[in-house]
Amino acid sequence: MALSGIPPPLKWVSLLVWFLLWASGIDAARVHVDLRSLLTDPARGWSVDTTVSFPGSSEFIQSTERWTIFRPPTYSASIRPGTEADIVKIIKLATSHNIPFLVRGAGHSYTTTIGNLRNGLNIDLSQFRSVEVDQTAQTVTIGPGVTMADIFDPLYNAGFELQTGSCSCPSLIGVTLGGGVGRLVGYHGLVIDALVSVRMVTAKGKLIEVSQDSNPDLFWGIRGAGVNFGVVTSATYRVKPLTNGGDVLNAEFIFSANMSSAYFRAVESYNDNLPPRLASITFIGYDASTNETRVSAGWTYSGPREEGLQALAPIFELGVPPSSLSMIPWNKLQASVGGGIDRLICQGNMIRDLYNLNLKNYSASTYETTFAKMEKFYADNPGGRNSVVGLEFFPNHAMAAVPLDETAFPWRDSTAYVNPTFIWAEGDDATKQAASKLGREIRNDFATTSGYDAPTVFVNYARGDEPLEQIYGRDKLPRLARLKKAWDPKNFFSYNNGLPTRYP
Ligand SMILES: Cc1cc2nc3c(=O)[nH]c(=O)nc-3n(C[C@H](O)[C@H](O)[C@H](O)COP(=O)(O)OP(=O)(O)OC[C@H]3O[C@@H](n4cnc5c(N)ncnc54)[C@H](O)[C@@H]3O)c2cc1C
Ligand SMILES: *[C@@H]1O[C@H](CO)[C@@H](O)[C@H](O)[C@H]1NC(C)=O
Ligand SMILES: *[C@@H]1O[C@H](CO)[C@@H](O)[C@H](O)[C@H]1NC(C)=O
Ligand SMILES: *[C@@H]1O[C@H](CO)[C@@H](O)[C@H](O)[C@H]1NC(C)=O
Repeated sequence: MALSGIPPPLKWVSLLVWFLLWASGIDAARVHVDLRSLLTDPARGWSVDTTVSFPGSSEFIQSTERWTIFRPPTYSASIRPGTEADIVKIIKLATSHNIPFLVRGAGHSYTTTIGNLRNGLNIDLSQFRSVEVDQTAQTVTIGPGVTMADIFDPLYNAGFELQTGSCSCPSLIGVTLGGGVGRLVGYHGLVIDALVSVRMVTAKGKLIEVSQDSNPDLFWGIRGAGVNFGVVTSATYRVKPLTNGGDVLNAEFIFSANMSSAYFRAVESYNDNLPPRLASITFIGYDASTNETRVSAGWTYSGPREEGLQALAPIFELGVPPSSLSMIPWNKLQASVGGGIDRLICQGNMIRDLYNLNLKNYSASTYETTFAKMEKFYADNPGGRNSVVGLEFFPNHAMAAVPLDETAFPWRDSTAYVNPTFIWAEGDDATKQAASKLGREIRNDFATTSGYDAPTVFVNYARGDEPLEQIYGRDKLPRLARLKKAWDPKNFFSYNNGLPTRYP
């Protein structure tokens, strides 16, 4: 390790990075390969559609852009493969030269563990955008660059729907590999519950099929811990005929501070009985037009309007008229809700630091405490007023109907997720510090009433500072570690809450 000539503070950072790499079983020596000459050597024989870029170029910037720039990975090069065969070649090249890399679907993972990748290779899958609906088999097959937004129209137009994540911008495969939670988990299950098969390039550079019939053990593992084993080059899902002709009831409410407690009590009344087709994404946030903290509550019901209104009775009884109430076609829902808030949420390149947790208990008093703490945070930190606490109330009927042993996903009993999301501008260290303190505090507050004995968070939502047991589940880890040892013994796919090769 040649650290001489590096200023002392950086020396410590380098040492820390080295230690983290070493601790996660990754050889720090990998970092010192000349990527430029390796990737541009004509001997590589890349397909004409495969492009390589380096820091400073606009293609590199575009190809490595991320949703959050809080503790991002750093890259010395980026490659954008144009063919599946080139993905195989890239993995063989990277593994044979010990080049550390991260695969990029759409750049939305926010776990801080990916920041441990320094000067690595970015493998950008954004060119793989195909969406093929098979009307007869009732399946859809997609490429790894396909985002949620890409599938709505093709599926809807063919008369189908699929459970997805709740925003338009992440890659559907990226969301799938961690389990995939969204508004339809109560009714259709997790995204992995619709997964039929994937094609995957393994760490050994083999292209394989993974399904119930082909490598079933790995199929178990990729459904919940899927970023640990290889590059998924395509995925096939079972789709369902459109529910209620594709029309979803959407009801939105704004509750000012003086109504927030009443709203939280109404939510608490849904404890253990949120109807399977009902779902809410609620935000505690700052309203710059009134300078007040408020609650924005969005509710959807995937079914007939009257049925939905009935299911929403506890909310309507609060007497606050909805700010929006309409039936929206399933394919337009994400882009329409909250006056188009999806566009705002999906905006990339901002500092965002999240402290998420799974919940199975609705606790009005915890929401109230959080509301009061955010109110104080906004007052004390004007630079943090874009921060929000998201609350997803998702019934779990369909996801809990799948036996726990069937997939690696460990938390089928969750009925809600809290997403405290702190945002500040680069250089605003006071807000950064306040956010870091409050994020931990809110996460702790929720943990005490979550209904779980210990904090839990599924891998898509993990911050990366949680013990692996809290992410993957203690009961799942022995089998996951055996799979890791079999499929990726040298830890190439290990920057996203990497699994150990032995457990305990
Ligand atoms: C705005 C927003 C909304 C979200 N909403 C939801 C939601 O509703 N439900 C939910 O469950 N999660 C949600 N998430 C979390 C999301 O599932 C994860 O961030 C997911 O990892 C994003 O995938 P990506 O491809 O966009 O990100 P990337 O950062 O490109 O990839 C994420 C991880 O998966 C790996 N990966 C990506 N593609 C592949 C592939 N083809 N093969 C192998 N590995 C791959 C990458 O190496 C990386 O470790 C959301 C995140 C954001 C930022
Ligand atoms: C609650 O607050 C809102 C906005 O801040 C205000 O318009 C309303 O009058 C208040 N209602 C009560 C009952 O205090
Ligand atoms: C909100 O605060 C800003 C800045 O402190 C002030 O300029 C503005 O008038 C306030 N708006 C309202 C509605 O109170
Ligand atoms: C669930 O939340 C309620 C209301 O805040 C609380 O009283 C209760 O202790 C919580 N239950 C568990 C198991 O944490």
